[in-house]
Parts: sequence; C-alpha cells; structure tokens
Amino acid sequence: MSTTSSSNIRLSGASRVHLGAAYYPEHWPEDHWAKDIQLMREAGLTVARLAEFAWSTLEPAEGEFHLDWLDRAVSALASAGIESVLGTPTAAPPAWLVQRHPDLLAVDESGRRVQFGNRCHYCVNSPELHAATCRIVGAMAKRFGPNPHVIGWQIDNEYNRVCYCDRCRGLFQHYLAAKFGSLRALNDRWSTSYWSQTYSAWEQIPLPVGPHNPGLMIEFRRFVTASYRQFQRLQMDVLRPCLRKEAWITHNFMGWFDGLDHYEMTQDLDLASWDWYVGTGHHDYLTTGAAHDLTRGFKRRNFWLMETQPGNVNWSPVNNTLNRDEARAMAWHAVAHGADAVLYWQWRSALGGQEQFHGTLVDPSGQPRPFYREVQQLGRDLAAVPFLAGSTAPSDVALLNSYDSRWSIQWQRHHHEFDYVEHLLHYYRPLAARNIAADIISADAPLDGYKLVIAPTLTILNKSRATRLQDFVARGGHLVLTLRTGMKDADNALLPSRQPGPLADLAGVQVEEYYALLDPVPVAGEWFDGSSRLWAERLQVLGGAKTQIIARYGASNGWLDGYPAITAREQGEGEVKKIVCIEDEPDMARLIKLILERKGYDLTIAIGGQEGLEAIRRVKPDLVLLDLMMPDMDGWQVYGKMKADEEMKSIPVIIVTARAQSADRGLGLHIAKVKDFIVKPFSPQELLQSLERVNGRVYCVGTYLDDASQQSLLNHIVEAAGVEPVLETPPGVEARRRITASGQEVLIVINHERAEKSMGLPWLAREHLSNQSFIEGLKLAPYGVAVLTRFA
Ligand code: GLA
Repeated sequence: MSTTSSSNIRLSGASRVHLGAAYYPEHWPEDHWAKDIQLMREAGLTVARLAEFAWSTLEPAEGEFHLDWLDRAVSALASAGIESVLGTPTAAPPAWLVQRHPDLLAVDESGRRVQFGNRCHYCVNSPELHAATCRIVGAMAKRFGPNPHVIGWQIDNEYNRVCYCDRCRGLFQHYLAAKFGSLRALNDRWSTSYWSQTYSAWEQIPLPVGPHNPGLMIEFRRFVTASYRQFQRLQMDVLRPCLRKEAWITHNFMGWFDGLDHYEMTQDLDLASWDWYVGTGHHDYLTTGAAHDLTRGFKRRNFWLMETQPGNVNWSPVNNTLNRDEARAMAWHAVAHGADAVLYWQWRSALGGQEQFHGTLVDPSGQPRPFYREVQQLGRDLAAVPFLAGSTAPSDVALLNSYDSRWSIQWQRHHHEFDYVEHLLHYYRPLAARNIAADIISADAPLDGYKLVIAPTLTILNKSRATRLQDFVARGGHLVLTLRTGMKDADNALLPSRQPGPLADLAGVQVEEYYALLDPVPVAGEWFDGSSRLWAERLQVLGGAKTQIIARYGASNGWLDGYPAITAREQGEGEVKKIVCIEDEPDMARLIKLILERKGYDLTIAIGGQEGLEAIRRVKPDLVLLDLMMPDMDGWQVYGKMKADEEMKSIPVIIVTARAQSADRGLGLHIAKVKDFIVKPFSPQELLQSLERVNGRVYCVGTYLDDASQQSLLNHIVEAAGVEPVLETPPGVEARRRITASGQEVLIVINHERAEKSMGLPWLAREHLSNQSFIEGLKLAPYGVAVLTRFA
C-alpha cells in the first residue's frame, strides 16, 4: 500500500472530531435544561446545534429581540464542555412577519401561495424577507459573534424551495438580460425559432413549469442558484464582521439534491456540511460513501455531518429503526470519508410540532432511549482517537460531477432509467468495493495530483473543461470518458459535432450513433464477457494504431453488431529515457541515481539554479525531476524560470521532496500552481511509478455494462493507472485511510454487516478502540469498527 498522498483535497484544520446533536431548548421549560445537558455530557457530546428554527422565540414581534435565553443555553452547554453552532433561523419566518408581508410567501409551480406553518415557505427574493433577515441575523451576530463557545454558524436550513411569483419572474428576465446582452443573442443561443418561441421583449419570457426549452430550463436553475447565493451572502455579510476569526460559516446541504448548483453555493462558505438520512431500510456503504465524498469535494476539504438519523425518521414509507450498532458503523463511515463532526437530529422529542415520531436520543419524558447507549459508545470511541483531529482522507482518483450536465440529462433522459447519479455510482461502487478512495469534485476543478479521473456522462463540455482534461492526460493522467459525453454546450444546446465533441482527438474515437436499449446487448472484452443495458454507443476509431479496442458489441439490433464498445488510447511521446534531476543534496542525488540508472534511464544530475536550467537546455530531457525543498536553493524559482522559458515549457516536471512533513505542508500550499506530477514525500517506488505514468491514457466507454463486467473493467483501469486499494477486505467490510497532520497513516476498518468478519492486516497494528496493543489479523464483530495505526 502506498503511504504517500497525492490528493489535492486541502488539510482539514479541525481541532477535534466532534460528536453532537441538534438541541432546541426553546421547546422546554428552562429547568429541564440542566438534566438534558448532563445527559449530553455523559454521552460524550462535544457540540450542540441550536436556534435554526427559533425565529419566533428570538424575535416574537418586529424588532423585539429575546436573546437572553439563547445566551443562557450556550453558557450552560459551555460549562459542560459543549460548544455551540448557531443556525440563523431564516428557514422559519414567523407568523407576524408573514401577516405583515403576505407576499413574502413563495408561490408554487401551480401558481398558489404556499401555506404558513411548515418551513422554507419564503420567496428567496423577497425584499421584506431580506430586510427582516438582516435584522434578526444582525442581532444574533452582535450578541453571539464574539462568544468563544460559538464555534460556527449555519445559514438557514436545507435550501430547497423554488418560487414562481411575479417578482421572481421579473428578476429572472433581468438576469437573462444581463447575461445575454440582447434578445437576439438569447433567441439565437436557445434556437427559439423552434416552435415559434422567438422573444421580442424580455417581459415575454416565462418561468418554466414542467418541460420547456432546454436553454430556458438550464438558465432558470442557474437563476435559482444565484438567488440563494445572494440570500446566503446577505447573511454572511451581516455575520462576518461580528464573528471571531476562528468561527466558520456553513450550510447543511442535502447530499445529491439537485435543485441548486452546490459548487456555486459553497464558494462563499468556509465549510460544507450535509444531512444524511437512510429513511426506510438500511444504509449501503458502497453508495453512501459517494455522498460523503461529494460533500468533501464541495470545498475540497473535510466536512461536517450536520444531521444524521438517531435510529429512525418519521417521514419515510416505513420508519424502521437501524439495527443495533449500525448507526455507530455509519458514523465511522462518515468520519472515514472525511467528516470532522457527526451530529444527530435531534436530541429530544418535542411534545408537539410535526416531527413527534422522529428518532431522538432522549424521549419525551427526558429519559435516554436505548439508542443513547450507542451514541455514548461513539463518544468513547472518538475520545480514544484524538490524533484524528486535523487529519485528511486522501485519494488518487477523482470522479467529476457537474450540475449542468446532470440537469441536462435528467430533463432528457431518453431512457427513463438513465439517471445521472446512478450512472456516476456505477463507476463509484466498483471502486468502493475494492476500498479505493475517490474524491468527487466539480468538473471545473483543477486535476493536479490525481492518477485517474473518471468523467461520468459529462454531457456539457465547454472549452475550459475540455482543455483541463487534455492537460491532465498530457501530464500522464488516465482519463475515463463515458456515455453521452461532449454532446452539449453551456446553453444546453447540441454541439455541431459528434460526441465526444472537443475531446474526439484525445479519445481517438467518435460516436457514430447512440441507442437507448430495450433489451440488454452482449458486449465481450478482454477482461469480461457481459452485456450492456440502457444505453449503447457505436464507436468509430479515428486514425489508428494508438487506439486499442477493448470490447465489442455482439449480435443485437444489427446497428451495433461487431462495433467497438470500449476503447483506450495512449497519449504521450513514448517511454521516458533522458532525465535531468535538479538536486543539491548529495545523498538524495545518489539515491535517485542509484534507482534510475539501474532501470536504464539516461540521467544527468544538475545542481539547482542556473546550472540546472543550463543542463535542461543542453540535454533536452524527456522529463525533469525537481526537488522543491533543496536546502540552499529556491526550487520554486527554478520551476518558475523553466516554465517561463518557451523551449522548456513543455517538458514535464516531477517534483520530488524528501523533506519532513512541515516542508511538505508548505509545498501543499502551492499545489494549485503546479501543472505537473507531484511525488511527496519522495519514495523510490512512487517515483518509478510516476515515470511509467508519463504516458497518459484515455478510455472511451460507450456501454452501460452489467455490474460484474463493470467491476472487471474498473479493476483493470485502476490497476493500469497505478491506483492501489487501501486494504483487501472481505465483502461488506470497508477500509479507509486518514492521514494525520503529522503524516501518520490511520486505517479505519468498518464491518457494515450483521455477521462477524476476519481479515489479514498489511502491518502490525495498534488498535485504538479496543485498546489492544497490537494484532496481526483483525476480527470484527457485526457492525464492528477498528481504528488502527502502525505498531511502532
Ligand atoms: C431535515 C431537517 C431537520 C429535520 C430532519 C428530520 O434534515 O433539516 O430539521 O426535520 O430533516 O429527518
């Protein structure tokens, strides 16, 4: 197993991994609080989330603020060692505000005003809502911003409402005018001559209810996102000046919810968080890990699990309770994927209100439910692993996600079962089954540091996305393109080219035709003999030898018979032979020489600075190895000069460093600037692997394989890209790594099933949850968890 990390997800910076619950002291007489807080302490809770629906208690009439009770609650929690996260209460505008401004209520798709008395009943663009929001948030910010026990803030709660009122329609028209500049441009880009949709005045443009022009639909989603982002910004601008500099601001998103572009929404936030509920049934870790990885990818840093299910919910068809110990395994699953906090919703059942039957830790009588013991165990678990604070979850693989592609596909599925997220999971699950960690990141994010990038159904392919993928492959990365790639532009209009549009040359293929499949079609390849379902693309190989056909369709509808279904194309100039290594530390230089010359590379060692640059010019190498952390040189300067020089610009650089973690962290700060490979810290094995990867590879997968064939295909792709599993485990057992701030590798192994499991371990390990000093093999009880470090 590789011990280095090439992930570019940032450091977590968290001071501990928190355990907590949503607590609503306003539901209870104040003399109940002490007992609640005592029980929280005994469960090992370290954080409570408060106030996110408390507007009518905090401001019972306009401008009349009652904040003392919240202050007392925060202090009482603090004296039990429990920190607070405060929610701004804007998801629940109170009755007095709605009475004064009835058109603050949103209008639904059918044109009806929504009713008061649930939540998120507001029109996000209401000026009256904005004014009232600034008042309540301002009062809370002034009072609680400086409080050292308020560690973070959550804006609103689970944004989701779309409003169709006349004001929103007018604002949408303004948004379009600003974006398109002229009606002519809009008509042209949306092809409005189709069905006589041509607009001659901005006021004619409707809000889309149900299916509509694809251009209009995509812009409306962008407008809704922009409206929420503005509402969020409004609150952040009020909060920020009053907060301590350590305090962060987040919002609790809903995993795969697609009503908003989450990359846009998280840009202004410090931290992403999400709410994870199973509902009916049990959790499936091969799937749920993706939602954690998605949330980690929003900010490219660790996240908070702001709400999760304490046993059962109240809103699902069957509100079954999770099995005993299942929630503990789920909490560890979240932590293993980069959660820096796990909070249950909610602490105690309120006597009234809409959620009387939801699971809680404490029942209406104020006594702990049986589930409370499981949380108590989790409290003990987290206390036993303080070294997890500030650790990150690294990965060599990225899956790309884009909301515009997702919207586009969902609105025109072509096969009713073709689901964007399902398709992404079709690539995620085989990785998860092998314990291969993946980041799920925006299709617009930098790709430095990854060995393998998978771009599931990247339908909207603009120039910058295409260029980023081309650069990634040029640097030796392995790329997988899948179905329906490169069909559309950012206006959701078809590209005037065959798939994969601007990536056809890179892929070495184009799609001659696509077929929604009624029945499965046979597909046979080098590593599997299976079938394709839902969708099949007939691939045409462009200009030859470098494109290898990995699988072909068997006899089916006649159109596909015998045609290529999956291809792979090598990119790059061939094998690396000549290398210049810039290094001014003799030991390191000797080591590199030894490793590379034995493998037959033609190697020149140059001392940094000017001499290094001259050596590159003289030798014209296939590759440069550069130590950024040379004791007497500024490696960045050498790098910068080389990249500024036309002659040397295109020579790939592998950055090596043998320095300790502190230096390595410094390097991390610059990662975004580096276009080339990074090996850190230096290991001979990783270096040799990187040299092999200088040739990139692009796969074009034109079929939706059955699960077993998909697993075989991905096993092969992953192996060819040099990506290794965290650990080989029996089915149902997950293994993940977190790397601590000091570089220590922590293995988290979770049994997600109700049967005991045993497995071998890669090294002698210390087990932190059971307090064993070391073990050679691992036995996990049903839903058992082990946190392991190397036995030293
Ligand atoms: C959502 C909300 C919570 C609560 C839970 C119940 O996630 O944010 O306030 O209603 O659902 O499952």
